[in-house]
Amino acid sequence: MRTKIVAGNWKMNKTLKETEALLTELSAKRPDTDAEVIVAPTFVNLDAATRHLESSVIQVAAQNMHHAENGAYTGEISADMLLDIGVDTVILGHSERRALFGETDDFLAKKVDTAMAKNMRAIFCFGEELQDRRAGNHFKVVEAQLKNALFHLGADAWQRIVLAYEPVWAIGTGETASPEQAQEMHAFIRKTINEKYGASVAQNVTILYGGSVKPNNAKEIFSKPDVDGGLIGGASLKADDFVEIIKAI
Ligand code: G3P
Repeated sequence: MRTKIVAGNWKMNKTLKETEALLTELSAKRPDTDAEVIVAPTFVNLDAATRHLESSVIQVAAQNMHHAENGAYTGEISADMLLDIGVDTVILGHSERRALFGETDDFLAKKVDTAMAKNMRAIFCFGEELQDRRAGNHFKVVEAQLKNALFHLGADAWQRIVLAYEPVWAIGTGETASPEQAQEMHAFIRKTINEKYGASVAQNVTILYGGSVKPNNAKEIFSKPDVDGGLIGGASLKADDFVEIIKAI
């Protein structure tokens, strides 16, 4: 049985006080669910968030990390710094990191390797741009992103990989992929993994959908057989909206 996950990527939002207020509200309103619930506050508030949630089932993830052990990387965060505060799940490859900070598949492969070497869990993001889809290249683009950054891994490592398919044209736009589009790509992703690693890895890997998931569309998207949950941006910043999305899984 695949793990279902609803994860909130808070991006560059919430001061410390706002973080604590949202986590208090979320903890009070969190619905019972078999799914894992994860929040990813900004680096500055990760330690406070892990302390706030230490007796909660809500888990904390980082939004990024560098692949180096330590050193002259101004502004960056290492795996050990995250592990030291009890954070062992990290989002990697978000399209905003790729577009705004030039993170390539090869660079991301190094981050994935560090996460695996440190026994962390990686929520690996990928997805096509609008022009890729309009040109009918979306399957080719997604396949390349997976192969370039992940297909050097051994089968065992995939137990600590969560995939997040996030069509770039759906992120923050309100232009959600239709449930059918999400299912079609998720099924393609699972088939591609099956061809390389076999059915066990392919059937057990959690594949999240991200891109304008809201309370009014979550249920239909999550109902698709190859959609195992969501990576939520804007709607994770309001407790009531995030709770409604958790109820939909
Ligand atoms: O990582 C999730 C994020 O990219 C989706 O953002 O605001 O479209 O839910 P949003």
